[in-house]
Amino acid sequence: MTSTSLWMTVEVAPDADVLDGAQECDVAVIGSGIAGISTAYELCQHGQSVIVVDRGRICGGMTSRTSAHLAPLCDDLVTEMVTIRGHEATKLFCESQAAAVDRIEQIQKREKIDCDFRRLDGYLFQGREMPSDTIDQEMDAVRQIGVPVHRLVGVPLKGADDRHALRYPRQATFHPLKYLAGVAKACIEKGVIFYRDSPVEEVTEDDALVTVKAARGIIRAKHAVVATNSSISDRFAIHTKTAPYRTYVITFEIKRGALPDALYWDTEDPYHYVRLQPGAANTDYVLVGGEDHKSGEADDANARFSRLEVWARSMISDLGKETHRWSGQVLDTIDYAGFVGRDPGGKNSYVAMGDSGQGLTHGVAGAMLNTSLVLGKDHPWTEIYEPGRVTLKAAKNFLTENVTALKNFAEYVAPGEIKSLDQLKPGKGAIFRRGLEKLAAFRDETGTLHLRSASCTHVGCHLHWNSFETCWDCPCHGSMFDVDGQPINAPAVGPLARVKD
Ligand SMILES: Cc1cc2nc3c(=O)[nH]c(=O)nc-3n(C[C@H](O)[C@H](O)[C@H](O)COP(=O)(O)OP(=O)(O)OC[C@H]3O[C@@H](n4cnc5c(N)ncnc54)[C@H](O)[C@@H]3O)c2cc1C
Ligand code: FES
Repeated sequence: MTSTSLWMTVEVAPDADVLDGAQECDVAVIGSGIAGISTAYELCQHGQSVIVVDRGRICGGMTSRTSAHLAPLCDDLVTEMVTIRGHEATKLFCESQAAAVDRIEQIQKREKIDCDFRRLDGYLFQGREMPSDTIDQEMDAVRQIGVPVHRLVGVPLKGADDRHALRYPRQATFHPLKYLAGVAKACIEKGVIFYRDSPVEEVTEDDALVTVKAARGIIRAKHAVVATNSSISDRFAIHTKTAPYRTYVITFEIKRGALPDALYWDTEDPYHYVRLQPGAANTDYVLVGGEDHKSGEADDANARFSRLEVWARSMISDLGKETHRWSGQVLDTIDYAGFVGRDPGGKNSYVAMGDSGQGLTHGVAGAMLNTSLVLGKDHPWTEIYEPGRVTLKAAKNFLTENVTALKNFAEYVAPGEIKSLDQLKPGKGAIFRRGLEKLAAFRDETGTLHLRSASCTHVGCHLHWNSFETCWDCPCHGSMFDVDGQPINAPAVGPLARVKD
């Protein structure tokens, strides 16, 4: 089965064109995931003229691969965040995430978007052979920051009557692409222009204007918001404070009512996550995710899907046939909050990146924050998400995550994965050493060889093959390239260098 998410049948802004020629506006938004579209929405409500430009289809990035839990807590546990950022900052962070869920609820109501939005309970439960005191510690931390929570034993999953758990009321979920199709439509009605298939190559600033240069066109704007999931404008400062992780989702049919409609996640590391999505007639879908690993550090997706299926069948009764499987990437940050605000080193450009596994709420909260900053207003969340911040207590996480880059550069002196290009079978990719060069080699089903440099065009890390997604992953900061070397995930902008066959 190839990688296709449950959401991808919905097209967002289907009439978007390619950016061609010169355009002007108040704010250029680069990237059309939830962060970009939400930013465009907030800005146009304030009378700003906005152009949104994307490298590919509108909303074809990580937002189309999400699992869409709207759980406004800390994905890495509130206990962890309090240790690193303290009570006050954690409280403000959780308030901002809750405000994002409220904003989604408000917008879908106001714009009459039929997107299956609903409030429901969220259960954090004790994982297999995990201690129950994690649950107690988390309850204490959550109560101290004033978030409503109930302690219980047993969750409505198979064989989980004795699992210790926390129940969070008023969490939420929705169909992310139906929601964003509605938001994009509301934006278009307010004059926002969407451009697709227009990779942005450069964002530059002078005193008065920001210039956004795409392949065939240019936008001059008073401000730019870079919402490319991982920033293409900041070269390094923020990227060393994030780490890309790949995560996997598998969906099954399930008879309506067989599983209570709620969000579920456990305390294992990596954790499992489960939610329901309404289907047709009497059948719903259940999404089960997890099996995360650092990007590029494993290429065994099928084994991971098998483990997810075994886990799902052991925890959920009456699970029907599998319908979809896909993977995607989240960008963890070293202190658990994203980086949103004025671009370090920029004047009129802003960034929104670092989802920490909760990129939907980050995208919406970030849109509210960046809109205030663009309009020249203070915002109470500025410090929480300040892109240039240094969190001293996160030094251990900083070092752990940056070991990847150090180890990665050492790979340039290692042998290739194949000794000869003749060893490469159709449909396979591998790293090949030719003299001092490391090459990313892929042979397609017709036998044609696709050969590119294996050096990422962001800051030069060594790429790894991803056989499930048929692309090259960069373990350092999350770029991905297709087999012809074109970037398909930021921060890389340029294609992989061509090499002689
Ligand atoms: C499997 C999975 C499960 C998840 N589950 C949850 C969850 O339950 N809850 C939650 O809150 N979050 C979850 N997340 C995270 C969340 O989905 C993402 O963080 C979020 O959708 C990212 O939104 P974004 O707008 O920042 O990025 P994207 O949706 O990736 O959008 C960025 C856009 O920028 C464009 N772009 C990149 N470079 C350029 C360029 N040079 N020029 C022009 N355009 C460019 C891309 O094409 C893309 O469309 C999950 C993620 C995954 C993968
Ligand atoms: S993403 Fe930074 S070096 Fe590849």
